[in-house]
Amino acid sequence: MLDNRPTLPPEIARRRTFAIISHPDAGKTTLTEKFLLFGGAIQMAGQVRAKGEARRTRSDFMQMEKDRGISVSASAMSFDFETYRFNLVDTPGHSDFSEDTYRTLTAVDAAIMVIDGAKGVESQTQKLFEVCRLRDLPILTFCNKMDRESRDTFEIIDEIQENLAIDVTPASWPIGQGRDFLGCYDMLHDRLELMDRADRNRVGESVKISGLDDPKLAQHIPAAMLETLREEVEMARELLPAFDREQVLNGSMTPIWFGSAINSFGVRELMAGMAEFGPEPQPLNTDKRQIGPEETKVTGFVFKVQANMDPKHRDRVAFVRLASGHFQRGMKLQHVRVGKPMAVSNPVLFLASDRELTEEAWAGDIIGIPNHGQLRIGDTLTEGEAVRFTGIPSFAPELLQTCRAGDPLKAKHLEKALMQFAEEGAAKVFKPSIGSGFIVGVVGALQFEVLASRIELEYGLPVRFEPSQFTSARWISGEKAAVEKVVNVNKQHIATDHDGDLVYLTRLQWDIDRIERDHPGVKLTATKEMM
Ligand code: G4P
Repeated sequence: MLDNRPTLPPEIARRRTFAIISHPDAGKTTLTEKFLLFGGAIQMAGQVRAKGEARRTRSDFMQMEKDRGISVSASAMSFDFETYRFNLVDTPGHSDFSEDTYRTLTAVDAAIMVIDGAKGVESQTQKLFEVCRLRDLPILTFCNKMDRESRDTFEIIDEIQENLAIDVTPASWPIGQGRDFLGCYDMLHDRLELMDRADRNRVGESVKISGLDDPKLAQHIPAAMLETLREEVEMARELLPAFDREQVLNGSMTPIWFGSAINSFGVRELMAGMAEFGPEPQPLNTDKRQIGPEETKVTGFVFKVQANMDPKHRDRVAFVRLASGHFQRGMKLQHVRVGKPMAVSNPVLFLASDRELTEEAWAGDIIGIPNHGQLRIGDTLTEGEAVRFTGIPSFAPELLQTCRAGDPLKAKHLEKALMQFAEEGAAKVFKPSIGSGFIVGVVGALQFEVLASRIELEYGLPVRFEPSQFTSARWISGEKAAVEKVVNVNKQHIATDHDGDLVYLTRLQWDIDRIERDHPGVKLTATKEMM
């Protein structure tokens, strides 16, 4: 994957932009926190924890949403590890936000998959993995909670290979488990890594050895456990595929590290793995050509918009993944969709606990651009070239409800609020061509509650969500005359989305099939490319 690519300037080559995916409770927050700790971005463990806990209950979740400052700075975090610059992009934890997660994954070059050593591959892990697979993202695996009773190591590896259809190669091998867990044998560097149980934030001892016959091993590992380790590693070398960076980079193999995030164990090795074996910033596709990170002109795209971080000022931050070039503060970039230049005078880089104005950024980095609504998800910024990055889809929502303002005179205000959320990507908003009210579509039911609470909080507008007569939405495309015909004869089913694009609403799959059968020039699709 990298071999036939041009050599990147060192500033770009040292960047690693990735996300962490996991099933809730596997330890993503704890791992993130340890990354920040070892990356020097926070001084003390515990600063991110509060957020992880807040995520657990609905009411706390709303509270967190109110405190948007925290959630926005945690959406993308930059920190240094050794000579590398890590950009860690947060994926929303709740399964109701899978669309947001999907978009986030278009902005990264790799993912770390965290699994719980006792639970193995869980439903949400599997779903997120499938999304990574669609883009052949390289995936590093971290098997967490080895300080607790966990499954047999071979069993865990087999489960990943079978459920996710990917080759797994052990980067480390655990020594003991639960109470007896001592640490790991680093299979790639022939080292013994020992866990420090006394201090959770300290990294334990690392002992360089020369193979599993090294007499030094006996000083650290009881005889019976050493015997088991030797047998297991020998078996693993025989039965499991050997590490191959090429295969890791093309997404067909995942190296697995074993550890305990809460005990800071295995985290450094995982970070070193991301630095050493993870991908450099990758080329990205546009509607006209592929853009390489080494290109000198700046390009980038918006993959996330967070609005109303401060309810008093209606500001928004657009998260931009830089695809190429060296960005400098004050640059004028072409906003391709509207065809106008835009001065980027106050870009922010997201350091762990704060957002900071940044003077420069490179391909691979994520910058935040505060704006008043000009930037939307999917927008492309360039130094003039009229290209559009492709690949950010918009999914048809799975749940539809009608939204009405508590006070009917406030319908215009409601429209404004809903459009803003639609642009932010928090919901789909459809305006029916006949009748009043708006139809709001989401992927998970919790989003209705979050929306109602945000509309009230940020716009002072109490709203009601009511069951809608429709259950499915499809975007309409095709030959103009054929589309017009469909629109004219199905008026009560037609609406427009926030971009003004035509949508067909129905309760019956049968209706969708019928239209496609009767009007061959028309297509009804469940996704729309936002860029
Ligand atoms: P998440 O973001 O993936 O949802 O997981 P999070 O890090 O919040 O961790 C979920 C729970 O697992 C937390 O326990 C956390 O302390 C625990 N945990 C994380 N890593 C390890 C580990 O290596 N070993 C063990 N034994 N536990 C781990 P909790 O009880 O929900 O919260 P807390 O009371 O510990 O804060």
